[in-house]
Amino acid sequence: MSSVGVLHKSRVSIEEGMTVLSVILHCDLDCFYAQVERERLGLPKDAAVVVVQWKMALAVSYPARKFGIKRGSNVDEVRKLGGDKVTIVHVETIGGDAPPPDLNVDQEGTEDLVNTQKVSLARYRKASADIFRAMISCLSGYQAKFERASIDEAYIDVTAEVDQRVRKAGNELRPLPDNTMVVGERLDMRDECDVRLAYGADIATEVRKKVLAAFSYTVSAGISTNKLLSKFASAENKPNMQTIVPLRAVSKLMEDVPLRKLRGLGGKLGKEVEALGVSTAGEATKLSREQLQSKLGHQKFAEFVYNSVRGIDESEVKERDKAKSLLAAKSFRGQMGLSVVEQTWLPLLADELAERLMVDAELNNRDAKTLTISFRMKSATSQGNWTMVTASRSAIMPPIGAEGRSNEILSSSVNVLRKVAREEKQFTFPITFVGLTATNFSDRATANESISRYFHVASDRDAVHSSGSKTVTDRSQNAFQTREEIHQRRIQESADRALALRLHREESIPTDSKATRGGRIGKKVTSKVAKRKGKGGVNTLDRFVVKKD
Ligand code: CTP
Ligand code: CA
Ligand code: CA
Repeated sequence: MSSVGVLHKSRVSIEEGMTVLSVILHCDLDCFYAQVERERLGLPKDAAVVVVQWKMALAVSYPARKFGIKRGSNVDEVRKLGGDKVTIVHVETIGGDAPPPDLNVDQEGTEDLVNTQKVSLARYRKASADIFRAMISCLSGYQAKFERASIDEAYIDVTAEVDQRVRKAGNELRPLPDNTMVVGERLDMRDECDVRLAYGADIATEVRKKVLAAFSYTVSAGISTNKLLSKFASAENKPNMQTIVPLRAVSKLMEDVPLRKLRGLGGKLGKEVEALGVSTAGEATKLSREQLQSKLGHQKFAEFVYNSVRGIDESEVKERDKAKSLLAAKSFRGQMGLSVVEQTWLPLLADELAERLMVDAELNNRDAKTLTISFRMKSATSQGNWTMVTASRSAIMPPIGAEGRSNEILSSSVNVLRKVAREEKQFTFPITFVGLTATNFSDRATANESISRYFHVASDRDAVHSSGSKTVTDRSQNAFQTREEIHQRRIQESADRALALRLHREESIPTDSKATRGGRIGKKVTSKVAKRKGKGGVNTLDRFVVKKD
């Protein structure tokens, strides 16, 4: 069967007696963090901006890419290539009492900041939420499904909306919107699929224009018949362009596409397939299901790869407009001992997570039920060697109304780490990473708690902080004051955010209860945790989940 023949399986029936092809959009912000910083600093649209984390470029604006600067470039190299034509911005940092690094000047000791501060992506998360809200409001009145896929990308299933437009206007000839490219030949307006994609391109343009008008951010988009093809398409003609992949072009297109460019194959899975001696999707179509399965172990993975390299992807656009989990984490240069982690990093991470949960609750009217503590460290193997592992353990998330939630989170995390130190002899401190994750979200019973309550919670927490009565670790007064100041500043910032969000309430995002209820694993964790609840002591699971690197 030709791959296009197989692709027709992706026809879905949305109405009795009528079969239509899905139309899926993928929107991805151009050089996202760099655009956010450009606007924040009021720089011109064509400014060369590079956002760095410690010494590494994270996001590079398109004008800066002309100098040969790439993501991953070292800041010294960025300076060498771009000179004074490039604005280098460090991501926001929190913790410690030093100001964030200014990498436009060769600041002495910048490198040391990595051991006292951590990065905060708050700015980009805020921008992301604003952008998605604008996109969703642009789609209001349309029959469309919106899925947030990452901080800067979303899938939109516009099948039903396109179907309506086809019914109303048919395949009248009209030009494609500006900035639209087509992979392969031109669209054929006698072809049902092409007509549908042209309507999809209209909607993509509306969404992109809305974001540009509201925030001056450019978005690139892909328009095709499934998520895999539309994601591939959005990256094809960046920046500020949209690309259509018609079904007709798929088999030819796949011939030369590097495996790594396909959704889901950019990481470990793609690497394993490459180990079979193939580097393009076309080459990989020569591999049988059996070959793939014996290499990848699992039939599910084999099937996924078998389909992906043929441009087949039947996964649905899931209605979801918010993150499934919130993570506050810190990686260490060198390694950190238990006491520093307890005294410096866990308090900072607990604060960060508690604060983000509060903003999230205000915005999305939901709360997390599970707190997962993860850490990376050496672990002894049965052969007497050691290997790096990431281990995690879950606990009940302290309730949102709890006094000093941050302290409760801290206490729970400290207990887990101490338990590790005490009981899990295969693990060896120091650690190189620690993270606190909030998952297993569910809708809050009391809808739309007011902003006054928000302030109330914040001030409760301050009271606990100033008395220090609930603090589980002994922190030096010095570190405490610094934290307090940072804390105050961040409370103010979150309060501003919360207020802005409330003012936007009429545009507020529908809550998808299915998506927020958590998956199978989440449920398993909750029930186990629930069993232990009420028995006193630490509400943690008995078992660690350990992943080898
Ligand atoms: N990002 C990151 N670390 C990564 C990948 C991405 O910090 N390993 C950040 C980038 O700084 C980026 C944002 O997440 O701004 C979105 O990533 P991505 O879409 O991959 O890149 P962009 O910078 O947006 O560039 P592009 O125009 O190619 O999409
Ligand atoms: Ca992007
Ligand atoms: Ca992206």
